[in-house]
Order: sequence, then C-alpha cells, then structure tokens
Amino acid sequence: MDLEPMQAILKSVESLAGVEISLETVRNPDGTVLIKAGDKITLDKIEQLKDNGLNRIWVKVEEVVPPLVEPEKIEQAKQEIQRVFRSAVEKFKIESEQVWRVSQTVLSDIMSNYGEKISLVFLVQQTDEDYTYTHEVHVSMISSLVGMELGLRVEQLSHLAFAAMVHDVGKVLIPREILLAPRRLTPEEFEVMKKHVAFGERIVRKSGLNDDRVVSAVRDHHEKLDGRWLSRRFN
Ligand SMILES: [Fe+2]
Repeated sequence: MDLEPMQAILKSVESLAGVEISLETVRNPDGTVLIKAGDKITLDKIEQLKDNGLNRIWVKVEEVVPPLVEPEKIEQAKQEIQRVFRSAVEKFKIESEQVWRVSQTVLSDIMSNYGEKISLVFLVQQTDEDYTYTHEVHVSMISSLVGMELGLRVEQLSHLAFAAMVHDVGKVLIPREILLAPRRLTPEEFEVMKKHVAFGERIVRKSGLNDDRVVSAVRDHHEKLDGRWLSRRFN
C-alpha cells in the first residue's frame, strides 16, 4: 500500500507567521485562487485570508515526525485481525495468541517511538467491510497512546491494546445488511446492532478470556457514565 503519512496541522489564521506552507487551495469570494495547495502563506496572504473571514487553514508541519506506527504495520495488523475475525464467525471464538501478537507489535512500536513529539497515521478506509478491522487497529493504537499518557504499567498497556484490538468482535455476528447498511438504521435494526457488545462478550469468554479489563472493554465500550448507550454511531 502506498500511503504517505499526513504531516499536517489545522492552524488558526491568527497564529500564522508568514512561513507556513498551505495544504489546501483557498479561493476568494469571487472564485479566484488566493492560495494554491503547496504555496507559502505570506504575510499579505494572511491579511487577505482574514479579510475573507477564514479562521483556520491546514498547513504542513515543518518538522516531520515519524509516525508511531508505520502505515505498512497498520495494514499488516488489519489483515491479521481480519483473519482472526473471519475465523471467529465459524468457531465462535478468537485465536487469542494471534491477537496478542498483533497488539503487542503495535504497542511496542508506540512505546519505542513515543517521545516529546508524536505523530499518528491512520489508514484510509478502502471498503465498508474493511472499516471494522481497520477501526480495531486504530482504536488499539489510540488506546495504547492514551495509556502511555496516563502512565499505565506495561502489563496494563498490554491488556488495553489487546482489548481495543477485539472490542468490536461481536460485529461478526451482526447480519451484513445491517452492519454494512449505507444509511441510517431503522430502530429495529439499531436494536440488533446494539447486540454486538453482548455477542462480543460471549465470544471473548468462550475464548477463555475472562480478564475483567478485556471483557469490560468489549461489553461496555458503548456505555456512557450514566449507563446509557453512547450514541447512534457504532464504533
Ligand atoms: Fe462497538
């Protein structure tokens, strides 16, 4: 896969110093181009941006920080998780050894590349079906990073990265026409969709994974603090 890590930041026009490179093409109200993507945003352009009422602009990050996890690694992890989930449909259990291996690979990259400045890259979703697998890997990366920021111990981080990597495994039992519906779900379909957390809990328990932290991540990841369902999105 040929993916360039995105090194970009959304800056307020107020904070521009006249040296930044724009990553977007900005037009004047009359349609003429004010700044082309790749152009330096000079001081007079900044004034014109302000005159046009633009508050923020995507600019290139001057210093390129290598991503915590390289896109190729994310793609590999996604493919592994896809295999694990597909086999979970047939066996109603997950190959936890595989998941440990994948989550440890991601976590160890994050731990060793973690530093003063960090950068995360994410894979662009290729198909609707890919979304679930890619999402598991992305969530595992973000969870590991949050865990690092919180100062969790390695053992805790390992369980966190693992749990995040399978948190949506129950989706393998949701009918495809609901899981991949390219529209807002009906209330009845939504009730079915909500079951993925309970299905997930059964799958991880059946796989011999009874660690509370893992079970809870799978069962409770849509729960708000007041016990209500998190949202109408199903991530
Ligand atoms: Fe979910």
